[in-house]
Amino acid sequence: MTENVLILGATSGIAKALARVMAERGCSLVLAGRNREEMEKSAIDLRLRYQVAVEVEDFDALDFAGHAGFITRCLSRPQPIDGIVLCYGCLPDQRQTETDVDEARRTIDVNFTSAITLLIPLANYLESRRGGYLAAISSVAGDRGRQSNYTYGATKAGLTSYLQGLRNRLYRSGVHVLTIKPGFVDTPMTQGWLNPNSPLVASADRVARDIDRAIRRRRNAIYTPWFWWPIMLVVRAVPEFLFKRTRL
Ligand SMILES: NC(=O)c1ccc[n+]([C@@H]2O[C@H](COP(=O)([O-])OP(=O)(O)OC[C@H]3O[C@@H](n4cnc5c(N)ncnc54)[C@H](OP(=O)(O)O)[C@@H]3O)[C@@H](O)[C@H]2O)c1
Repeated sequence: MTENVLILGATSGIAKALARVMAERGCSLVLAGRNREEMEKSAIDLRLRYQVAVEVEDFDALDFAGHAGFITRCLSRPQPIDGIVLCYGCLPDQRQTETDVDEARRTIDVNFTSAITLLIPLANYLESRRGGYLAAISSVAGDRGRQSNYTYGATKAGLTSYLQGLRNRLYRSGVHVLTIKPGFVDTPMTQGWLNPNSPLVASADRVARDIDRAIRRRRNAIYTPWFWWPIMLVVRAVPEFLFKRTRL
């Protein structure tokens, strides 16, 4: 049976790569995001290339009043949604969030508040169907607060923790919850401040393949690429009295 997947933030670099990987294995897709024109282009490309059904939905994470209508539109489609992947997010200028309360709040609302207010009805929907999966992109940045990105990191730490609780709750209803923790990925989000040729920087395609494999294998949480697991093990192990002296 065809797997129907809703991708939130479908214009993200990682989401576009994931949509290709999922379409290649025959999934039908609902692409949701702010940039309709770009999503329509992707939809045409995916339909032609992989002969799968691809629909487009307008979605803005900050339009809280519009969430209920958006979710009703997605969940009342003739083909029920089997999997949901949260890909949207924003990486603010850390220094700006240290003085600009509105920018800090926008970051929290995009990366954390909206994720939770959307996951509540989406999780309940899958729970009532007793199956399917929820996958969300968190970040290695949520593993430990660092001076260079702790506003962003805090939103991802909150998301990671929320997903952990959700996984525990939904286990008995057979709903799979996946936490995705990428390291550095070459996407528009990191353009200009990451060297794409660095061995630590992964392509969106590589990360997308890891995400798709983790969904199929029903993994709980992944670091992607894998080598971020030992890196973050070390980062988390440094005692706080030493860590606070670093310039990370
Ligand atoms: N790149 C990395 O190194 C890295 C590392 C760890 C985790 N991540 C996470 O991976 C996820 C995907 O990011 P990416 O690297 O693929 O970056 P990206 O290409 O810059 O994508 C960010 C996406 O978020 C969407 N977005 C932002 N605000 C939104 C809003 N209010 N409503 C709806 N959509 C909104 C953007 O939509 P528009 O196209 O409309 O702007 C865009 O599609 C994010 O959660 C990010 O935090 C990335």
